[in-house]
Amino acid sequence: MSFFEVKRLRKRFGGLYAVDDLSFSVNPGEVVGLIGPNGSGKTTTINLITNTIRPDGGEVLSKGENITRLKTHLIVKKGITRTYQLSTLFMDMTVLENVVLGFHVQRRGLWKPFRGRFSHTKESKKPFVRKAMEMLEFVGAGELRNEVAKNLPHGNQRCVALAVALASNPQLILLDEPMSGMNEKERDAMVQRLLELKRKGIAILLIEHDMRVVMGACERIVVLNFGKKIAEGSPKEIQSNREVVRAYLGEAYAPKG
Ligand SMILES: Nc1ncnc2c1ncn2[C@@H]1O[C@H](COP(=O)(O)OP(=O)(O)OP(=O)(O)O)[C@@H](O)[C@H]1O
Ligand SMILES: [Mg+2]
Repeated sequence: MSFFEVKRLRKRFGGLYAVDDLSFSVNPGEVVGLIGPNGSGKTTTINLITNTIRPDGGEVLSKGENITRLKTHLIVKKGITRTYQLSTLFMDMTVLENVVLGFHVQRRGLWKPFRGRFSHTKESKKPFVRKAMEMLEFVGAGELRNEVAKNLPHGNQRCVALAVALASNPQLILLDEPMSGMNEKERDAMVQRLLELKRKGIAILLIEHDMRVVMGACERIVVLNFGKKIAEGSPKEIQSNREVVRAYLGEAYAPKG
């Protein structure tokens, strides 16, 4: 029984398959890369796993349990959470409010947190505020806790988004280009953080276009092209796979000879 597995996952938009018969698995504490050209189905795969969109076919299995049709916030309770390709912070709220509220949204679904009065100061002794601070410290944003999200540089917003995802105690985290808009130093710090999560036993599915990051952080890589898996293997195998080089990696990684 796999820790996490997708089997023959399929999604069609109009006449085209965005995800076509996709199967792969993730082991506990493993960092798996999901790469491929723009439009190859990477984000759609995460949307299918989290049931943000409904698959046309196939299954998502968590420790053998079929979670394909579970609501997104119940999938979070199974230990699977995500970040988004575009920043999805509450821009007029502070960093700490974002992590606390994000935690509730993930656990209960979108609107329930707004029913009660929300005030982190009043509830400052609640364990989730401590948890939120712990996660902010982890992503290096502890000192930014009282900053309003929209005033943060893009790289910091991405870090806060990771803290939001981590607040729900995931065992598997699905990261959709978590380093987009970051400079090289910020990227390196993020890679170190991902490896630290891995050491803590958290598994990661990483969508990323920066091949230096992907090859450095991932143990295994799944390559998509037009929604289909065209290769799977170690960074070394992927870099020298002719079909992957032709479809995506191009000359930079072309095998010699
Ligand atoms: N909601 C939607 N409705 C219609 N078509 C969609 C929808 N979402 C994605 N698509 C299409 O499905 C295909 C896969 O898109 P997806 O966003 O999964 O690609 P991606 O691999 O994440 O690309 P990128 O690297 O640019 O983020 C694309 O052709 C896209 O236009
Ligand atoms: Mg995408």
